[in-house]
Amino acid sequence: MFELTGKVALVTGAGQGMGAGIARALARQGARVAVNDLDEARSEVVAKAIHDQGSEAMAAPFDVTDLPQVEAGVACITEELGPVDILVNNAGNAGGGPTMELKQFREMPVDDWRRFIDINLYGPANCSKAVVEGMCQRGSGRIITISSGAGQAGLPIGITLYGAGKAGALGFQRHLAMELAGDGVTVNAIALGLMDNVGGADVVKGLASSQPTGRLGTPEDVGAAVVYLASDEASWVTGQVLGVNGGTFLP
Ligand SMILES: NC(=O)c1ccc[n+]([C@@H]2O[C@H](COP(=O)([O-])OP(=O)(O)OC[C@H]3O[C@@H](n4cnc5c(N)ncnc54)[C@H](O)[C@@H]3O)[C@@H](O)[C@H]2O)c1
Repeated sequence: MFELTGKVALVTGAGQGMGAGIARALARQGARVAVNDLDEARSEVVAKAIHDQGSEAMAAPFDVTDLPQVEAGVACITEELGPVDILVNNAGNAGGGPTMELKQFREMPVDDWRRFIDINLYGPANCSKAVVEGMCQRGSGRIITISSGAGQAGLPIGITLYGAGKAGALGFQRHLAMELAGDGVTVNAIALGLMDNVGGADVVKGLASSQPTGRLGTPEDVGAAVVYLASDEASWVTGQVLGVNGGTFLP
């Protein structure tokens, strides 16, 4: 079950964190993986590590917020690995700019708004645009977007525009799923809870005790969920949001 041999996967923002875990998990199931990141060196390190474990992988550095770059990147992947069967829209957070800073809406400069929408909503839309025609022509494909509980519930922690971008991505995938349901292409999202890269060891330990499971999520938790949604076995699952959150953010 959940065999991905012969499939080509593109994972965005896979140079570290959850994306790297997703890329490793897809490769373990047999997929050939394109490791995208804005940071070329990061994507090369992850692709090499996967390659060294005996799987086929390539670095695919480009900026997911820039459609021409995305289309050129997908063309390179198609030439080197084959057409993309599985797209994982993982690049997110604050994008390639300053790290994610918690800031109440009243304190957030207007100039900061756009980057959260660009990376968390336009990123998935651009990458979907670049692969969707080919998927429909071949009559099969998987689009999986990594969203957040912050796109489903309101939180007072200073992430209004991030939450708007993540909620936007959920709306986008729901509608796209309906448009593509007859073409063999499924479109789903994963809403993550607090993951183990949110801060240093002390921060992680402190936050873990507040979780129902007593721990934060890991890249392996996300990778396993993506493998399921990417598999042939999940062909009747579309337009859904899977909470991978250790029991938090329950609606
Ligand atoms: N970490 C968490 O606690 C958490 C919680 C909920 C949701 N999420 C979501 O999970 C996903 C992964 O989170 P993470 O914490 O592992 O991410 P991260 O910030 O650790 O890594 C993201 C990677 O994306 C790359 N990137 C940034 N902008 C890019 C662009 N324009 N084009 C291509 N690559 C780009 C970065 O260089 C980085 O390597 C994100 O979508 C995030 O919003 C994370």
